[in-house]
Parts: sequence; C-alpha cells; structure tokens
Amino acid sequence: MAQLWGGRFTKETDQLVYDFNASISFDKKLLPQDIAGSIAHADMLGKQGIITCQEKESIISGLRSILKDVESGALIVDETKEDVHSFVEAELIQRIGDAGKKLHTGRSRNDQVALDMRLYTREKVTLIDGLVKELLLAIHKVMEENLHTYMPGFTHLQKAQPTTLAHHFGAYFEMFKRDRSRLQDIYERMNYCPLGAGALAGTTYPLDREYTAQLLGFAGPTLNSMDSVSDRDYLIEFLAALSTMMMHLSRFSEEIIIWNSNEYQFVEIDDAYSTGSSIMPQKKNPDIAELVRGKTGRVYGALMSLLTTMKGIPLAYNKDMQEDKELSFDAMDTAADCLTLFTGMISTMKFRTDVMARSAVNGFTNATDAADYLVNKGVPFRDAHGIIGRLVLYCIDKDTSIDALSLEELQSISEIFQEDIYEAISLKTCVEKRLTLGAPGAEAMEKVLEINRKYLELES
Ligand code: ARG
Repeated sequence: MAQLWGGRFTKETDQLVYDFNASISFDKKLLPQDIAGSIAHADMLGKQGIITCQEKESIISGLRSILKDVESGALIVDETKEDVHSFVEAELIQRIGDAGKKLHTGRSRNDQVALDMRLYTREKVTLIDGLVKELLLAIHKVMEENLHTYMPGFTHLQKAQPTTLAHHFGAYFEMFKRDRSRLQDIYERMNYCPLGAGALAGTTYPLDREYTAQLLGFAGPTLNSMDSVSDRDYLIEFLAALSTMMMHLSRFSEEIIIWNSNEYQFVEIDDAYSTGSSIMPQKKNPDIAELVRGKTGRVYGALMSLLTTMKGIPLAYNKDMQEDKELSFDAMDTAADCLTLFTGMISTMKFRTDVMARSAVNGFTNATDAADYLVNKGVPFRDAHGIIGRLVLYCIDKDTSIDALSLEELQSISEIFQEDIYEAISLKTCVEKRLTLGAPGAEAMEKVLEINRKYLELES
C-alpha cells in the first residue's frame, strides 16, 4: 500500500478503505494519456528551468519506456497502487531514481486527472465522430440506390402516405448529421488544457501553461484553476450527445425489427448479423438491432449518473468525481460498438423492394392525393376530405382500393371524378409529384443528395 501521501499519517489505511478509495482497476485505461500529460509537463518544467535539462530528458525517456513496456506487455500495471498516477510515478522513480521525484513539481493529481480524462474523452469524441460518418456513408449509399423504391410512410404505425426508402433513410441521415455537429461543438468547447491548475489555486512556480496546452494539441489553457479541476461539463455534454445518438440508433433499430418481422418482411437481415433460437429451428432473430435498442438505456444511465454525481459537489475537487470514469468509459465503448455493428448490419441488409411497393399501394396511402385531385377541380378541401372519406368507407366495404374502382363507381360518389383520376392517384404520381424541398419526389431528393455528397466529401 505505497501511497503518494503517507507523510502526515501515523496509521496504515485500513485495507477495505484503501480498496474502496483506489481507482487503478479502472483508471489504468488512462495510462497513455497520463504519460502524454506528464511528458508535456516535464518538457515545460525543463524549458522554464524548474528542473534541469538532464532531469527533463531522463524523465521523458523514462516515461516513454514505461508506455512502451505496458503496450508490449513487458510491464503489467500493478493494481496494488492507488491509481494510475501513483503507478506511473512509482515506476518512473524505480527506473530513473531521484529525478523521477521531481516530475510532480507544480502539479497535483487534481489537474493531472482532469487533463487525463479530457485527453481520453477528446480522442473518443473524434473516434465516435468517425464512426458516425461511416454510418452516414452507409445510409447515403442506400439512399442513392433507392430514390424510386416506393414504400408506405407511417403515422401512428398506420399507413399514411407513400414515400421512398431513400426518403425514409434520409430522415436518419439528418439525425446522425446533427449528432456529428454536436460532437464537433463539444470538441471545440472542451479543447482547453487544465494542466497547471494545480490542486485548485495554480502554483507559485513559473509554469508556462500556454506551452503545455500547445504541446498537447489544445487551443489554449483553461482560465480559472478552480473550474479547471472541478469541471466535468465536457463529459456530461459528450454523454448527452451519445445518449441522443443512441436514441436515434434505437429508433432505427426498432424500425428494422418491425420491417424484419414476418408480418412486414420489408427487409432481410444478413445471416452474419442474425442469430437463431436454441429451440425453434425456424427462427432468425434481429438480435443486433435489439441489443442496440437495449444498450441505449446503459448510455442514458451513465449520463444520469454523472449529472447526479456532480450536482452537489462544492468547488473544487472532491473524491466523488472519481465516479466520472467507469460508467463514462462503458458508455463510450458501448456507443462505439453499437455504431460499428449497426453500420455493418444496414450495409448487408437486403431490402424487399417488391414487398415495400405492394404495401405502399394497399392501405389507402393515396387518399390525400385523391382529395387533392378534387381540390384541383375546384372542390374546397374540407368537402373533398368528406367525399374521399365516404369513398374509403365504400372501398373497405367492398374490400378493394380507390384505384381499383371503375369510373362509374367513383362517379356514384362524386361526379367530379374523370378518367385522369387514375393517373393522379397512382403510386408513382403520389411520390414523384411531391417536390417540395425535403419531400420524397426524386427530383427534390436529388437536391438533398447533392448537399449530402458535398457534406460527405464524395465525388459527384
Ligand atoms: N483517482 C482520482 C480521481 O480519479 C485522482 C485524483 C485524486 N486527487 C485527490 N485529491 N485525491 O479523481
């Protein structure tokens, strides 16, 4: 139990207390970031003449060798140490002797852990952003290939108006595009370096905070040392962005589960992304989509947990903040895995375009267009709505659809119907004439695809 802080204590820490307090079992994940931060700190201490150039060199090469050995497996993280910071420092001192004891000059574990967590999170923001882009590329491909793939659009899970697969996927394109923009905002806002804040009130050493910030790729140093050590906003923002992104993935998953059901059969999930049942031989289950939907709750949980942890903490650092790690790590890994698997699943999924088109014809999806037909002939919309309502009732009674009725039958409901009604309410017309920007008509969709191609930096 070699702590960093034994001096003022006269008694050993109780083992249970030690274990409860320790964080190494999970913060060992931060070792690369801890070493990167320490290298920058040592570099700056040398530049400022706070340690000698020789001490600086020896610390930096010692830290590099520790990282290399941990990565190669030659050095195993000693989990009897309190946390990753203690482990690295002890290992450094063991390797280079007294110079290693100078690394912590002008630094506290408070600004150290604030930096480590920020560096780690910043990498994950970039990683997730890249994965969302991959997903957008997969969605875009489906859109390009399915501009004229007709399908029913739903409200209340009831057939409403016909649309296209490209249009339906386009809705998710917009959602994930917003998710990326949230990530980019977060990156910019969080990209300031807390190193040099010390325990809470800076230090009396002449540190160059601009220099360490620059070495570590930050836009600059943070501006209040108390805030620097106690701010976890960026993590909360990231978890909130991940929660929103997971909510999108979950809705999409839910739709795929419905589309993959025996009743719909709009899609067939590839064998590689399905699983079977141990008892029912006929089963091919959409487990990946279900798991993505299920894991969404876990990510929400991390967000709620951290918000709750932070809400009562007085300034500045308090040990509660050590609880920022496990669930955040889990949420970041979960979101990354879900994105990867979901992208794979939709890239390999087969679309039953014939089933979709047939389904778009049934269910009176052209009823609005039939009413619009009457409006174009001068009938006020409210009256047209009533006439088509009666027509739908007539069809339900006869178990048929509007376009299957003869002109005589149509005229028995309203004399305004003429031969051109069939063309006006055909599936093709219903979709392709919807040309307002953002609507499913191919010409309107083409404008959006052009914008999306530029956004994805694709050749057009
Ligand atoms: N393991 C700690 C954490 O994750 C490191 C900071 C410790 N600072 C302190 N004052 N005890 O928050």
